[in-house]
Formats: sequence, C-alpha cells, structure tokens
Amino acid sequence: MKVLAIETSCDETSVAIVNGREVLSNIIDTQIEKHKIFGGVVPEIASRMHIEKINYCIKEALQTANIKLNDIDIIAVTYGPGLVGALLVGLSAAKAIAFMADKPLVGVHHIEGHIAANYLEHPTLEPPFLCLVVSGGHTHLVNVLSYTEFDIVGKTKDDAVGEAYDKVARTIGLKYPGGPKVDELAKLGDPNSIQFPKAMINTGYDFSFSGIKSAVLNYVNSATMKQQTINNADVAASFQKTVVDILTHKTIKYATEHNIKNIAIAGGVAANSTLRMQMKELAEENGLTLYYPSLKYCTDNAAMIGVQGYYQYKESITSNMRLNAIANIAVGTKPSTGFN
Ligand code: KG4
Ligand code: ZN
Repeated sequence: MKVLAIETSCDETSVAIVNGREVLSNIIDTQIEKHKIFGGVVPEIASRMHIEKINYCIKEALQTANIKLNDIDIIAVTYGPGLVGALLVGLSAAKAIAFMADKPLVGVHHIEGHIAANYLEHPTLEPPFLCLVVSGGHTHLVNVLSYTEFDIVGKTKDDAVGEAYDKVARTIGLKYPGGPKVDELAKLGDPNSIQFPKAMINTGYDFSFSGIKSAVLNYVNSATMKQQTINNADVAASFQKTVVDILTHKTIKYATEHNIKNIAIAGGVAANSTLRMQMKELAEENGLTLYYPSLKYCTDNAAMIGVQGYYQYKESITSNMRLNAIANIAVGTKPSTGFN
C-alpha cells in the first residue's frame, strides 16, 4: 500500500512516499532560517513559503521514491492541529491530487502522526503501548490502545515542554528553535548547580512547565541585577534536568502502575539527548522496553503522517473533499467528525 503524505502544519514543508511502514522518500524543506530573524514562527510567512515549496517537494518525493502518481494508493495529509493557513496549503495540495488522480484522501492528526513515527523503524512495535508526546505545541502522555484509538492520560496545564525550551533558550541568548541549542549547551554545564521547581512531579499525570520557565527567567534577571556572572551552560543543564526528571518520572510511574511493558517517546523534544538517555536507563531498571524514532523522524516530517494514514485507511478512517484545517483538535478525534 503506497501512500503519498503531506505535512505543512508549522514551519516544515514535507512530502513522503511510504509503503506501509517502509519509507521510500521523505523530503523536508525547513523554513527555520527565515523565522529565526523573528525569534519564532511567523504564520503568514510560513503559509507563503509552503505555497512556494509544496509542488517541488511533491515532485522530489515521487522522483526519489522512483514512483509515478498512478502507483500511489492513497493520499494522507495533516489536517490539524497547527497553523490554519499553513495546514490549508498541504490540505489543498492533497485534495487536488486526490481529486485529479481519483485516490482516497486520509486526514491525519499531527500528534497521532508523531506517535506513528515509532512504527517506521521498529517493525515489531504494535499497540498497546504508552507514548510520551513532547513537541513545540504539545505535552501528552498517551495510552495508544490500537493504531487508531488513543486515551490521553496526562497533558500540560499550560506551556508545552518544547515551548518552555524555546523560551528558556531566548532567555539565555540562544536563537530559535532553542531546544537543540539548549540540549548542546547543557552538555557543558552542571545539571545540579541550580535548583528549579519540579512542578507537579508527584501530582497525577498532568504537567506544568510555565513555572519552570518563569523560574529560569527570574534566576537570570536577579543575577543580572546583582551584576553576577551567569553560567548559561549551568542554567541550560539545570533546566533540562528538571524537565527531564518530570517527564521520565511520570512516564515510568504510569507504565509500572498500569503494568504496561512497552513505552515510546515522540515529537520534536524526543530528539533531546538527555531525555532519550534517562528514559532508556529508567526503562531498563524497571524492565520496560523503550522505543524512540531516530532524530529525523522526531521533528516534523511527512513519513510519520504516511504511516498513520496507512493504518487509518486499513480501518476505513478516511476523509472527503470537505476535510477542513483545524487549529486545535484532541488526539483520537476522527477526521470525519472534525469539521469546525
Ligand atoms: O514536533 P516538532 O518538530 O514541532 C511541533 O509539532 O511542535 O517540535 C518542535 C520542538 C521545538 O520546540 C524545538 O525546540 C524542540 O521540538 N526540539 C528540542 C530538540 N530538538 C527539537 N527540544 C529539546 N532538545 C532537542 N534536541
Ligand atoms: Zn510536530
């Protein structure tokens, strides 16, 4: 089953061809350099850049996979959550191809795509498993019941963890997107040098990251006022330790309390070296198997949308030409009921 998949929910224009779980091509055109100047993603610029790039990406994905449009079985596309103007570009392209080539259209939830990224390189991974989804816009602990059924057991009450990373990065003078830069700088610092609050660490499975973000800001402002030198690497390492301690603690606790043996991580922040390492150590200590995608499938890409689209199609969860772009939509919502 060959899928042409399109992802344009934020600042990456991506088109992939997958054959079930196998990736035949995965073209990613990132806009990061453009948005960097503004310190974050500018929605209007994102939409315009998707329009400029989408046709080239589609052509390149087909060429790299050495496949003709006629050999494609289904068209999968991210329809939400994300920036509506950006989503509409991918959605319009997907609809045009589906209409012209008379192929089924499958609308995919972006976060369900991130979870599915784990299938691309782990042929034996099957639901049920527990997945921690950590991205720029989401922090979810999800019970993956089947390929298309999800139960959210915890989520952030305020900022997403990626958002906290990006804001802390800005506070210590690192450019957007700050997550990978904080990760690198943290390697040079002492993670135990500054104590930041571990908000809600022992309270249920929801998360809160706005307090930690403010604590970092207060630390930097107060040191600046006292004219003390700030060791940015220590700030990065201490912030990262705090966040990773919370994420790993809650994930492992939920899995052990509910007798879940397989756990996974997904989303842009799943590329974080400390999160990957610490989760792996704790999983091993607790007799759990941890899965994570390779770095290129952690951040936004169309291959993950393709594999999720494949499983949806197998279960007849398809869409039609009325599929709309949706800025906010809960994980597990079926696209056919997702009109706004
Ligand atoms: O999943 P993603 O590409 O886009 C969204 O769906 O949001 O995630 C982007 C987020 C950004 O906040 C970025 O700073 C963060 O993932 N990120 C990281 C790392 N790589 C990307 N955060 C921490 N450590 C990293 N290595
Ligand atoms: Zn994403």
